[in-house]
Amino acid sequence: MSWGCGLCALLAGGALLVLLLLRWLRADGDLTVLWAEWRGKKPENELRGKVVWVTGASSGIGEELAYQLSKIGALLAISARREDELERVKKKCLQISNLSDKEILVLRLDLTDRSSHEAATNSVLKHFGKIDVLVNNGGRSQRSLFVDTNLDVFSAIMELNYLGTISLTKHVLNHMIERRRGKIVTVSSVMGIMGAPLASGYCASKHALQGFFNSLRTELTDYPEISIINICPGPVQSKIIQNVFTEKLDKSIENSGDQSHKMPTERCVQLTLVSTANDLKEAWISDQPYLAVCYLWQYAPTWAWWLMNRMGKRRIENFKSGVDADASYSRKKK
Ligand SMILES: NC(=O)c1ccc[n+]([C@@H]2O[C@H](COP(=O)([O-])OP(=O)(O)OC[C@H]3O[C@@H](n4cnc5c(N)ncnc54)[C@H](OP(=O)(O)O)[C@@H]3O)[C@@H](O)[C@H]2O)c1
Repeated sequence: MSWGCGLCALLAGGALLVLLLLRWLRADGDLTVLWAEWRGKKPENELRGKVVWVTGASSGIGEELAYQLSKIGALLAISARREDELERVKKKCLQISNLSDKEILVLRLDLTDRSSHEAATNSVLKHFGKIDVLVNNGGRSQRSLFVDTNLDVFSAIMELNYLGTISLTKHVLNHMIERRRGKIVTVSSVMGIMGAPLASGYCASKHALQGFFNSLRTELTDYPEISIINICPGPVQSKIIQNVFTEKLDKSIENSGDQSHKMPTERCVQLTLVSTANDLKEAWISDQPYLAVCYLWQYAPTWAWWLMNRMGKRRIENFKSGVDADASYSRKKK
């Protein structure tokens, strides 16, 4: 090869790298998610006609999951504690989809009431005869410093986000093992990968979920048709801040802040369904800079800590002065 050709190849390679870097700076999912969205299986082909049980479907990400799943023709069981909100979600699903009344089951479920989970699973099975996909989405976040927070708050977070989720999973998994097929999708968080101030209990519960499901997956090698899929969103528009745990169990947050700088719920759910259709083991779905921090956290944790420390300082200052703690994290959306 002549020097000229070599130089051209080098320049072309460099240009490609710059293009990839520019694309990555605008990315809102990790490389496997973006690849699956571009070249992978389509949710409408994979999930149409499937029975999908979504927990936490009365608001936020779960509500949007119900809308997008109904549009692509999945049969739905939707659960949460507030039945009136679930009925509202069902009504809208019926308006925007071709599903019939019987194809959407509203099922009240309290994730912390573990003794009710077997009966709830049986109700879905009685209604549809099978469960193809369980979406473990119900959960609550936290806004409080560890030093100010009562221990019973930590217990309640684990009871809901971790134990409630694995309890329901246990009942549904028995059914999937019998059928030798199914998908268990768990809405974890980027907080299941990294740490962040004001959310030590929440981060712990999401780390627990990640550890649990990553281990469960290794116990299911005899069932290649059962997928364990962990979804890790960054900040997403929803009611999560209104519903956070604080220092005390009976205290709610005063300032839930402006949500407009966070990822739109529709986009998060779109990528969640792409990840589900393509059986991704773990999907990071987030705008920058969280996405970059996820990569850094995996490969250079000490540098990631340095960055998080600077971001976290502002977060705590915001929180203490009554401003939305998340406001300084994400880039503003136009
Ligand atoms: N929004 C974000 O920035 C973000 C980022 C990463 C991960 N996530 C995760 O996404 C999931 C959904 O959150 P979201 O953002 O959509 O918040 P959200 O709007 O507050 O929705 C939370 C859902 O969980 C349900 N829930 C709460 N306590 C429950 C209980 N004891 N039993 C059953 N359901 C319960 C709520 O319904 P009821 O009150 O009617 O029970 C609601 O439907 C959570 O697991 C959260 O950790 C969210």
